[in-house]
Amino acid sequence: MNLEELYSYAKKYGFVFPSAEIYGGFSGFYDFGPLGVELKRNIENLLWKRFVTEKNFVVGIDGSIITNPQIWNASGHTQNFSDPVLVCGKCGSRFKADSFVEEVAKAPVDDIAEFVNSHKLKCPNCGSELKFSGRTNLMFETIAGTKDKTYLRPETAQLIFVNFKQVINSYKINLPFGIAQLGKSFRNEISPRDFLFRLREFNQFEIEFFVDPEEANNCPYFDKIKEKTIPILMEKDQLKGNPAREVKLKDLLNKATKWHLYWLWEFYQFFTDLGISPENLRIREHLKDELAHYAKTCFDIEYKFPFGWKEIHGCAYRSDFDLKQHQTYSKTKMDVFDQKRNKHYIPHVIEPSQGIERAFLATMFEALKDDKLRLSKQLAPLKAAILPVFNKEPFMEKANFLFKELTIRGYSTMIDVRGPFVKRYDYHNKIGTYLTLTLDYQTLDDDSFVIKLRDADNFVRTCDTEKIFELLN
Ligand code: GAP
Repeated sequence: MNLEELYSYAKKYGFVFPSAEIYGGFSGFYDFGPLGVELKRNIENLLWKRFVTEKNFVVGIDGSIITNPQIWNASGHTQNFSDPVLVCGKCGSRFKADSFVEEVAKAPVDDIAEFVNSHKLKCPNCGSELKFSGRTNLMFETIAGTKDKTYLRPETAQLIFVNFKQVINSYKINLPFGIAQLGKSFRNEISPRDFLFRLREFNQFEIEFFVDPEEANNCPYFDKIKEKTIPILMEKDQLKGNPAREVKLKDLLNKATKWHLYWLWEFYQFFTDLGISPENLRIREHLKDELAHYAKTCFDIEYKFPFGWKEIHGCAYRSDFDLKQHQTYSKTKMDVFDQKRNKHYIPHVIEPSQGIERAFLATMFEALKDDKLRLSKQLAPLKAAILPVFNKEPFMEKANFLFKELTIRGYSTMIDVRGPFVKRYDYHNKIGTYLTLTLDYQTLDDDSFVIKLRDADNFVRTCDTEKIFELLN
């Protein structure tokens, strides 16, 4: 399935709509429909459960989207958060120069301006020549009140850094620990594209994991994972045009600390547990000149989309860059005191950063096979659909009873009486409903119903509602 087909599917079945479509849409913005919002929340809830609730050393916050603009001066975003731009002199189309040039060259390009000059690139919209027009900052500006210029946050991370001391002082948590945040980020992308892949408004789940730099290899969980292998495209292999290789985590200790590799593995596993097949996943080490201004080392988890291998997750080592910057700009001490060693230090930071929409897109691509959306039980937008053969009593009484039993336990459920009965199975396969419960004539005699799991061939008749919960647990 290509991107256009997935887009049509998502729109047709109520997963995602172009934002404000009745007004012609708005480039880089999408709205989630009834099924999409369930899938998106399932992804978000799984992330929160797995990486916040189930980790004793991670806590959450919910920071504001608009905040004091000094944050963005300190973080370097006002100065450095920009992309190179190509502009068409005739039709005015604008393109993200690095991606455009990389697609033409089939490899990352060092000197974009030089490449553009020497290759006479053509505008895909009108065929005229494209010109390199420098860099454009990606932050959305806004005004708070009548005159205070500020920005919509371009990442959730900074709200964590500026609250770091508040969390320590109020929550009395010891290092190493992580602070997580889930919420909207905004980037005024030059050329939003590839459906949900490059948006101007999107959601991020980020963890800033704070650790004493001298303890960055003191990760109690590393021993258990050190023999695990990941498919990784190292810097030197990229430069030579080699493919990714399977490498043991312990053999990457010359590239990253144990805590960094721990987080990378945790998120790689998150994706495989969601049902993404390992052959569609790889890890890519950032090239030195591609690192963000704050990063010392960074690994992306990439998914093999029909439009190529693309980043769905970034895991960066940000060192003490951000805390130091905020200490300088705010004149607030950001160091911590280690009583055992009697020393003050500014913690270093490892940052797993997950875009929700990219995870959404990858899971949709992965699950759509043979006209079925084979989403895992945790991700399925509807856990159950109740299908009475007729929209009348006593079928509806039983349907309402089952609906209540399921929804009271938190399972998203639908009583579906729409259209011809035979077409309803097909519909629920297409939207990924995990199981269906059919109420037929025998229901009238013995109160039984028929359970059909989406991905199984057999039907099971039962009177026992516990059977449904066993399957959904
Ligand atoms: N705090 C670090 C940071 O924001 P990033 O690599 O710029 O790093 C992290 O973004 C993740 O956010 C990406 O891996 C991607 O999943 C998501 N993301 C970034 N820009 C996006 C965009 N324009 N549209 C959709 N998702 C985006």
